[in-house]
Amino acid sequence: MNQSPYLLSENDRQFLQNIFSDSKKATAAKHMMESFSELMAYYRCAIMEIETKFNVLNEEFSLQYDRNPINGIKSRLKRIESIAQKLSRNEKPLTLDSIEENLNDVAGVRVICSFTHDVYMLADAFLSQDDVTLISKKDYIKDPKANGYRSLHLIVSIPIFLLHEKRSMKVEIQLRTIAMDSWAALEHQLKYKKSAEFTDEMASDLFLCSQLSAELDKRMDNLRKTVNI
Ligand code: GTP
Ligand code: MG
Repeated sequence: MNQSPYLLSENDRQFLQNIFSDSKKATAAKHMMESFSELMAYYRCAIMEIETKFNVLNEEFSLQYDRNPINGIKSRLKRIESIAQKLSRNEKPLTLDSIEENLNDVAGVRVICSFTHDVYMLADAFLSQDDVTLISKKDYIKDPKANGYRSLHLIVSIPIFLLHEKRSMKVEIQLRTIAMDSWAALEHQLKYKKSAEFTDEMASDLFLCSQLSAELDKRMDNLRKTVNI
């Protein structure tokens, strides 16, 4: 990572400045920006910890079994606009304590796995580590969402070790196969395209696609079992 973890993007800076627009509040704005940057840096550290844990599991598995259970890892920090919108939607205040208390998805890590089997194998291995605390789990693979969305979601808390303190940070982890990921990515693009209307017919088409994608995963996993990997 080249960028200093304490830097706020120009957009985030502008957003915070707009909240504290009058000059009397300028000091409050500066203080808020510094504290916010610091909190975001802690979330970034938590993401690094989680990514490392999954990279280590991938490495060890590939040494033992000569294949990679992880196809890729994508991480993101929630933007300040989205943080503010979500807190306001849930009628919660926009403060640092409130962000930590009320939001589980400021830090997000998506682990794209090769086979459905790998999703559960990696989740189990990760959750059995003694510094990982499971807060909640949603298995949208066993019970897909009504629109067909599939993934395994974990909200965990993990410690990050700073110079003078240890801090627990919450992270949202989504584990999914390549097929689940491509369905979710395309569904997101189709649904959030502002210029086009999302019709019932499109929804049922997408649902059908999710069933095809589930069938693909099932067959791929059967092939995996056949070759015994
Ligand atoms: P949020 O308030 O949206 O964060 O969701 P939630 O608290 O109800 O949690 P949930 O576990 O259902 O979803 C969290 C995240 O999973 C979302 O932010 C998306 O990244 C992903 N997700 C959930 N449902 C869908 C879906 O139908 N389609 C796609 N593409 N992604 C989804
Ligand atoms: Mg979310």
